Amino acid sequence: MTERYAVIGNPIGHTKSPLIHGMFAKATNQSLHYSAIEGPLDGFVGAVQAFRDGGGRGMNVTAPFKLQAFELADERSERANLAGAVNALKFEGGRILADNFDGIGLVNDIQRNLGMSLAGKRVLLLGAGGAARGALLPLLEAAPAELVIANRSVDKAQTLARQLADRGPVRGGGYGEVGEATFDVVINATSASLKGELPPLSPVVFAADGLAYELVYGKGLTPFLRLAANAGVKRLADGVGMLVEQAAEAFVWWRGVRPDTRAVIDTLTIPLA
Ligand code: ATR
Repeated sequence: MTERYAVIGNPIGHTKSPLIHGMFAKATNQSLHYSAIEGPLDGFVGAVQAFRDGGGRGMNVTAPFKLQAFELADERSERANLAGAVNALKFEGGRILADNFDGIGLVNDIQRNLGMSLAGKRVLLLGAGGAARGALLPLLEAAPAELVIANRSVDKAQTLARQLADRGPVRGGGYGEVGEATFDVVINATSASLKGELPPLSPVVFAADGLAYELVYGKGLTPFLRLAANAGVKRLADGVGMLVEQAAEAFVWWRGVRPDTRAVIDTLTIPLA
């Protein structure tokens, strides 16, 4: 029987998830149907229940419902708890299981697709909102030499660093406190690029042979990537690989089969220049 999955968000018109999971299903010979649901802004829980009652097996969750999905879950992974948000649900035996694959998707993209091992590297994470929180634990689990969180509201970065202090070498502060040292990997997890803005970042933070990673996907050379390029950084990436890798993690979780991601990333890639 064809099993049903869906992504829920609002708006949902631009989602790539049905395309990604459709390609995964075809490549792995899995019989499933994956649709997009525009959840009512005041009716997320009802929409999830209706999908589950109709035989749905799992869902991806996107803005603005990731926090409500967190609340709705019966069981959450540790990384979902640390992120405070959930992007995937699995319906199993009357229970709702929840996880957050955004961070592991980011780490897998950097290490597997972009070929940069994070072990022993200096990593700078910009932002302390939902996107940054999702990335923190998977980044620390990749054993960097140091993970620095920089945020405009300094207290948020410091709080996150304190929460994770026993999980690895992490510190948090403002953009001015980042220091003059360079970083091998600089990740923009702020929402600045969505507004065409640039975090107040000094270009000296970029190591020329390092990687500048923009979490936002499909916006070309954002002000952050342009700053990095002007600072001499050769390796620039946007979030297309992360998008596909987080989907692959959900697919494995639901179906027990790991899809190859390369062809899907190639299909979705929009050139940066
Ligand atoms: P998301 O879920 O996309 O992370 P969010 O939780 O609203 O969204 O967080 C947005 C993040 O982008 C925050 O870290 C925010 O910084 P503040 O906490 O100081 O507000 C950051 N941000 C947004 N616009 C920014 C800008 N122009 N410069 C620097 N940081 C910015």
